[in-house]
Amino acid sequence: MDCFECLEKIIKDRRSHRFFLEKPVEREKIEKILELAMWAPSAMNRQQWFFVVVGKEKMATLKEVIAKSYNSILSRLQKFFAENPKVISLTEQFFKTLGNAPVVIFVYYTPTGDDFADLQSACAAIQNLLLSAHALGLGACWMTGPVHMEREINEALGIQDKKLVAVIPLGYPAKKPPIPPRRDSEKKVIWML
Ligand SMILES: Cc1cc2nc3c(=O)[nH]c(=O)nc-3n(C[C@H](O)[C@H](O)[C@H](O)COP(=O)(O)O)c2cc1C
Repeated sequence: MDCFECLEKIIKDRRSHRFFLEKPVEREKIEKILELAMWAPSAMNRQQWFFVVVGKEKMATLKEVIAKSYNSILSRLQKFFAENPKVISLTEQFFKTLGNAPVVIFVYYTPTGDDFADLQSACAAIQNLLLSAHALGLGACWMTGPVHMEREINEALGIQDKKLVAVIPLGYPAKKPPIPPRRDSEKKVIWML
């Protein structure tokens, strides 16, 4: 497989994982995916991203805080998944357990006054992080639902003066997630070549 085929495979095979094995994640692997996350492009090369990596010690407290964010997203879930109540119960379970992930990464940016660009830079880093995790045999899930509990999460982590972007449970996958369909790709591009 050449480099491009390999990249295509990594991009297409990456999934959002919501069930994890108890197996711990090697610190070197976490360091590697954070290193690659920080190779993302960033506005004016400011690299405003910031990561907090949480393991066993603070996990119970953070799970408790994050579980509360489920109520904030419930009405939207009920609207979007009215036909598919199983998604709602699975989401509730995931928000309450984080899929038993042994590691959770909290992604922040340090604001420069240009939130629009700082946020996009942090998101570019997140995508690098997810792809790198997948390439190393790990699973992860980009979650913004918990950001509803930003103040409480920051208090629990002792973080100040940073903006929470996402919460990413990370671990060895316990299940192979289904492949969610890509929708109307042909309608999402206007060609003006
Ligand atoms: C900005 C963003 C926010 C997301 N927030 C959540 C979340 O709060 N909870 C969750 O379970 N999944 C969340 N996801 C994961 C999406 O549900 C998932 O990417 C989508 O269903 C496609 O599945 P795939 O990642 O396996 O391709 C989020 C994804 C993105 C990009």
